[in-house]
Amino acid sequence: MPRWPVALVTGASSGIGRAVAVRLAAEGSHVIVVARRRDRLEALATDLRAAHGVTVDVIVADLTDPDQLAQLEDRLRSGAPPVDLLVNNAGAGGQGPFADIPIDWQASQIRLNVLAPVRLTHAALEPMLARGHGGVLNVSSIAGLQPMPHVATYAATKAYLSSFSHALHEEVRRQGVTVTALLPGFTRTEFHDAAGMNRSIVPGPAWMKADTVARAGLRAVWRGRAQCVPGLGYRVLTGISGVVPWSVSRRALGAVLAR
Ligand SMILES: NC(=O)c1ccc[n+]([C@@H]2O[C@H](COP(=O)([O-])OP(=O)(O)OC[C@H]3O[C@@H](n4cnc5c(N)ncnc54)[C@H](OP(=O)(O)O)[C@@H]3O)[C@@H](O)[C@H]2O)c1
Repeated sequence: MPRWPVALVTGASSGIGRAVAVRLAAEGSHVIVVARRRDRLEALATDLRAAHGVTVDVIVADLTDPDQLAQLEDRLRSGAPPVDLLVNNAGAGGQGPFADIPIDWQASQIRLNVLAPVRLTHAALEPMLARGHGGVLNVSSIAGLQPMPHVATYAATKAYLSSFSHALHEEVRRQGVTVTALLPGFTRTEFHDAAGMNRSIVPGPAWMKADTVARAGLRAVWRGRAQCVPGLGYRVLTGISGVVPWSVSRRALGAVLAR
């Protein structure tokens, strides 16, 4: 019997979400993969069925679209079959001065990175709490640990997601359900290209593999942890950011990210 008999992963068409889906399928989970790119999802589903003999359902959805998001919420509430693990992974960001980035794009980031996980978590928790079993893994970021000039909206969405996850973790932890915030550092995926972010400011050894992040996150939610920061270096950084005042960190980051 797999740890999570049925798991739903958003943003499974690439990067961390894809790595999570692959790991879950290898453990024998029935995986429901969600994203916008149907061809990517269908190819992944075909590979996972062939490699692991598991059931894979493909749901093509733009999570910034209220109607498509509502359909996914209905799926989570329907319990057919019940989802044991929800992985809120889909996310997007962008770099540049706040005033220069079109407001519609920033609002869309907020819908994808905040509103979608909040609504999906609400839909998933109801049946999980009724059954006294379940897990929610919210893919946040170390970017949410402090204000980030030039990545202001993205960092703020991740601060929301981390705070939200910690609060829910405490609310439900005695009811057989775990909510875990996963805070990756720089990870080699399609994220930075999609976001138009400057990769060159990050030294090579700082980059993590998507599979390393996926493995750490899945282990953390299974162990009932509130938070997971993959990689020793990033755990040290997280500790430091907890004691450095925002007046200092925002200036330092502002100078680096303005380049
Ligand atoms: N890479 C990093 O350094 C890093 C660090 C910390 C946190 N994270 C977080 O990790 C998560 C996964 O990102 P990644 O690094 O794996 O990047 P990625 O390779 O770009 O994957 C992003 C995923 O989100 C999906 N997605 C984007 N917009 C969507 C929308 N409107 N509706 C539905 N799905 C959508 C994409 O699929 P489609 O394009 O097919 O829809 C894709 O599957 C994100 O939440 C990100 O913030 C990444």
